[in-house]
Amino acid sequence: KRAIIIDTDPGIDDAVALSIALNHPALEVRLLTTVAGNVNVNKTTDNTLKLVAFFGKQVPVAKGCDKPLLIQLEDSAEIHGESGMDGYDFPKTSLKALDIHAVEAMKECILSSSEPITLVPIAALTNIALLLSLYPETKQNIQEIVMMGGSLSRGNTNTSAEFNTYVDPHAAQIVFQSGIPIVMVGLDVTSTAVLTKNETEKIKEFGEVGNMFYSLFQHYRGGSLQTGLKMHDVCAIAYLTDPSLFTVQETFVEVALDGPAAGATVADLKMKYHDSTNAKVCLDIDIPEFQNWVVSNLQKIN
Ligand code: BDR
Ligand code: CA
Repeated sequence: KRAIIIDTDPGIDDAVALSIALNHPALEVRLLTTVAGNVNVNKTTDNTLKLVAFFGKQVPVAKGCDKPLLIQLEDSAEIHGESGMDGYDFPKTSLKALDIHAVEAMKECILSSSEPITLVPIAALTNIALLLSLYPETKQNIQEIVMMGGSLSRGNTNTSAEFNTYVDPHAAQIVFQSGIPIVMVGLDVTSTAVLTKNETEKIKEFGEVGNMFYSLFQHYRGGSLQTGLKMHDVCAIAYLTDPSLFTVQETFVEVALDGPAAGATVADLKMKYHDSTNAKVCLDIDIPEFQNWVVSNLQKIN
């Protein structure tokens, strides 16, 4: 099993990603950390706890940063709803977040692990940047960072930037400069990784898990139930278990920190300006296979 920490801001696509990761036989989720992004960090933490309780898991949850490193938070409640996970009435839970900050929890989890940990950020990179800056000794026990974020072409927030790198560009830059192997699962693949009516109608039939997702999907405006729901964060989990679904290229990525392209990930795909690479970027994804992967993994949860 691959030992992972997921840093998240649920978020409806985060919810699908967490659900599959928590239940996948090839993954061992050691810790979930939360950050401000789609909605504020109290809400993303509550949503994460609700999902852990829904699946009856024991995975610890730690609350992280309530704002980006240097700039104001711009959330995405218009896409995921006021709560971040509108549409389904989760049962009340007594589960609570750990009483230490996400960055401390990550440090302890990484340093105490006998095997290397893969970090899976599917939100702004604020917590991860702080971890690597405050506790650089953790780097030696981090195998890889597989992140949903960035774009090689158009953005979904300003013209060029993807939401997660837009929310905290300074954090994203720290992560790309960290020297840790990075896989960037960006909009180039995640925008095409949609669930169509064909898949959502199947998912709807998967008992209470299906009902939960179908209810959330009706409130997810990243697409619509008719035209396709973008499963951005789910792609990062698919990369962990089935990397052959993706076409990747090694390159050098840096992040625009301000101006009209703030948060854009600029990749030197032709390696004209750099002698070494700092990331693998995803160029393409096998959509039908990805769709099957999502449906079959959600079906198995029941
Ligand atoms: C990313 O932004 C968030 O709204 C999604 O959860 C995903 O992590 C897509 O740009
Ligand atoms: Ca997210």
